[in-house]
Amino acid sequence: MPTLTEKIIKAHLQEGTMDRGCPIAIKIDQTLTQDATGTMAYLQLEAMGVDQVKTELSVSYVDHNTLQSGFENADDHKYLQTVANKHGIYFSRPGNGICHQVHLERFAAPGKTLLGSDSHTPTAGGIGALAIGAGGLDVACAMAGRPFNLKMPKVVNVKLTGALHKGVSSKDIILKVLQLMTVKGGVGKVIEYTGEGVKTLNIPQRATITNMGAELGATTSIFPSDEVTYEFLKKQNREDCFVALSADDDAVYDETYEINLDDLEPMIAMPHSPDAVKSISEVVGKKIDQVAIGSCTNSSYRDMMIVASILKNKTVAENVSLCISPGSKQVLTMLSQNGALTDLISSGARMLECTCGPCIGMGQSPITNAWSLRTFNRNFYGRSGTLSANVCLVSPEVAAYSAIKGVISDPREAEFDIPAEPDHFLVDDSMIIAPEKQHPENVEIVRGPNIKPLPENTPLADTVEKQVVIKVVDNITTDHIAPAGAKVLPFRSNIEKISEFIFRDVQAGFKQHCLSVGGGFIVAGQNYGQGSSREHAALAPMYLGIKAVIAKSFARIHQANLINFGIVPFTFANEADYDTIDEGDVLKISNLHQLAPGKAMMVENVTKKTSFVVNHALSQLDIDILMAGGRLNYIKMGK
Ligand code: F3S
Repeated sequence: MPTLTEKIIKAHLQEGTMDRGCPIAIKIDQTLTQDATGTMAYLQLEAMGVDQVKTELSVSYVDHNTLQSGFENADDHKYLQTVANKHGIYFSRPGNGICHQVHLERFAAPGKTLLGSDSHTPTAGGIGALAIGAGGLDVACAMAGRPFNLKMPKVVNVKLTGALHKGVSSKDIILKVLQLMTVKGGVGKVIEYTGEGVKTLNIPQRATITNMGAELGATTSIFPSDEVTYEFLKKQNREDCFVALSADDDAVYDETYEINLDDLEPMIAMPHSPDAVKSISEVVGKKIDQVAIGSCTNSSYRDMMIVASILKNKTVAENVSLCISPGSKQVLTMLSQNGALTDLISSGARMLECTCGPCIGMGQSPITNAWSLRTFNRNFYGRSGTLSANVCLVSPEVAAYSAIKGVISDPREAEFDIPAEPDHFLVDDSMIIAPEKQHPENVEIVRGPNIKPLPENTPLADTVEKQVVIKVVDNITTDHIAPAGAKVLPFRSNIEKISEFIFRDVQAGFKQHCLSVGGGFIVAGQNYGQGSSREHAALAPMYLGIKAVIAKSFARIHQANLINFGIVPFTFANEADYDTIDEGDVLKISNLHQLAPGKAMMVENVTKKTSFVVNHALSQLDIDILMAGGRLNYIKMGK
């Protein structure tokens, strides 16, 4: 009767009941961080006074900010390495690969819970883990042995039948799901894949699907653990962590979708949203300027071998710049040993290191007004680093074939071989540093000048009367709030500095405005804070004095981050009230100390002499955290 999701949650349940929507707390077995969110997470872990992490396994990866055009990123990496060494955390060195690809290869295990300070942590759902993305502070709390709080999710069944045809890939499956469910369709839900079609997909293909389930807004996505999972683990020398897992045959789901893989065509997500999905046949022939292959979505050995097969003995079209980043040292070394790397290089592809690279705007920004095809998971406005660029999301097959044709092309017309599954993966963990076990107290943590102390917040006042410092539209992403890119990311450990970039492309001088009026409120449309898990999008606004965000709706991780940093997330009881508010209006919220679960609050628009009602989805724990001025304050109070 239970779904796979319910089985894993039940085995980890520490508080609450399994009723849909109920606040629950689950034990976390594994954590991961990456460098863009990791420095904050470890500063927070240190602030909690934890000597050794309490999880079964915690890993710190460096994959985002790897450009070293100044000392900042290098300082961050050294801090991450030494803080990991001291506190019982494995450290995956820069060069070893993208966190989700490496974690899938070397650590993720069926039936385990994984909490990661990166929104694409659900990648490990491809192996049957319950893998959830969260803010760095939630991950720090998990490392400190605290359970992870969430609401018992609904469970959606996506039943796969048939088998993919050549030229159609698992990327097209998740693009199809995005077309069906939209970027808001997964909120509060876990997406569980079942059906005969599951057996036809290998683990990296499954991981592509669970990875991009993040774009549905889902809590996570998960595949059963079966003989395919066993084979993958065996080829990674990790068969000892295999356990067979699946939903019961009569499991009851909240929603069900069915996709016949036989009927699926190559798909494409058009600018500027992952759910603006069309069939490739609708856009074939469009001239392109750039192709970028890689990212945690599509950088596995299988993906790279398909790309190499399509590019073999061909040359990249002269109007196209093609860059390729393999997902891990394991993948790159295998490509190098079997000769496929030569096929990639010979085609004219520009090989990048095994990192996030252009996905996070670290280099390879496309030409002005470009059409750029990317195998990544996000194509939000401006994320590529070129505001005028039109970024489309596609499979490796579409990307590689289009790169040699110079126009968007249908890979079902390409000549290439489906790569054979490798007999064994090349296992070499020499770039993963185990923590000091004997004398961690002797390890010295190195803090360069880029590692700044955490900003502090004050407890929530009973009455807040402040300006609306910014009013934004629907689907504002964390990229809009706290942009990424090579000029910004080096300051991820320096909130004072990074606050200069908050809403940079939305409102000029936002930081100065906030500081001059003493902070205030943000008013927003639907799905506020979608996208990345970066807690800087809450932490820096907290530093600038933001006390509440009043939105039509929130993305899950961002809402949790707001609470963690003491910013109250309210929703309009009547969405039409959004239209009555202007930037600069003074709002007054009284009796905040009487906040209670399910209790609506009244907001007075002092400027307009009107008032309106706001709701919230806060649990009692959330309210206690907000009253303390954020989760760190709450923990320091001995809670
Ligand atoms: Fe990195 Fe892009 Fe994935 S930034 S973790 S490759 S979404």
